[in-house]
Amino acid sequence: MGKGRARVAASILDADFANLGYAVKRAERAGVDRIHLDVMDGHFVPNLTFGPRMIKALRGRTELPLDAHLMIDEPGRHIGEYLDAGCDSVTFHVEIGEPIAPTLEAIRAAGRAAGLAVKPRTPLSELEPYRELLDIVMVMTVEPGFGGQSFMKEVARDKLLPARELLSHKAFGAEVHVDGGINRETAEFVGAQAVDILVVGSALWTKGHDMGREVRLVRALADEGFQYQLNGGRPPIPRDRWSTFTSLPKHLAKRAMDEIEAGGIPVIMLRGDGQINPDGVRDYELLVPMSVESLTVERHAEARDAWLAEADAWRAAWVRDHGTAHAPEPG
Ligand code: DX5
Ligand code: ZN
Repeated sequence: MGKGRARVAASILDADFANLGYAVKRAERAGVDRIHLDVMDGHFVPNLTFGPRMIKALRGRTELPLDAHLMIDEPGRHIGEYLDAGCDSVTFHVEIGEPIAPTLEAIRAAGRAAGLAVKPRTPLSELEPYRELLDIVMVMTVEPGFGGQSFMKEVARDKLLPARELLSHKAFGAEVHVDGGINRETAEFVGAQAVDILVVGSALWTKGHDMGREVRLVRALADEGFQYQLNGGRPPIPRDRWSTFTSLPKHLAKRAMDEIEAGGIPVIMLRGDGQINPDGVRDYELLVPMSVESLTVERHAEARDAWLAEADAWRAAWVRDHGTAHAPEPG
């Protein structure tokens, strides 16, 4: 895969709201890995941003994964709209006053990643009842509501490694996100806490900053921090030592994984950054250890062609049966 392990999600909260489509394109060109969408309802937090219609419109402007961060009182009531809008993951807050499990279940049933976020003063233990339903734990290192606040280092120190621990029962695919005050000053520290996704907002939109350079710096510093600390002796998946063998829709990916593993080659199946299928769910990536990459190609290259052809046929059939594709063409 070439890249190190840390990924940058661009929060567009501090971008020009009169031109969010362009902001997303700009972030994409600057090399960010995801778009982080801060939804605020003026109740859960004292600020108001945008909702599912805006997200749906942005979905048509980029192929990057969209991570929704819902800072709203009643995610359960609106979850269908956010899933329809084409979010790849939906994360909401554990501090809300309504049942949490049904909403997490709805997100997972739609094939998207489900997450819970915790405010700085909320203990991680509040997430424990939902462990089995979590793909993402989002640790807030500022009070939610506004961009440009300063990073709360003690919160990061207290929560990031325990958050990874909370997800340790998941063999692959689960992610720790850190949100709030991330920039080149703080990236190395959170990288050392083995965080997977660094949400970066205001640092990207500061006038005069070269966004691409900012993204590269944040990623490189986070990776460097990680290398130094080696995650307190519990390294998560070293993604830089695995290579992507293929990307397929989920049902085909599962079958391909079983077939490759039957020959003794270990496979990691990751909710990928790959193409979006007409049903709105992204392809899954199949990763094999770099050391057996050529062996995998030798054994399965032909089958891979067949799987890819089957995937195309499945996509075409989906469009035929359901009328239109889920996500409109970019542009
Ligand atoms: C805060 C949001 C964040 C944040 C990121 O409520 O969830 O995504 O604004 O912006 P910076 O990087 O400026 O803290
Ligand atoms: Zn956020």
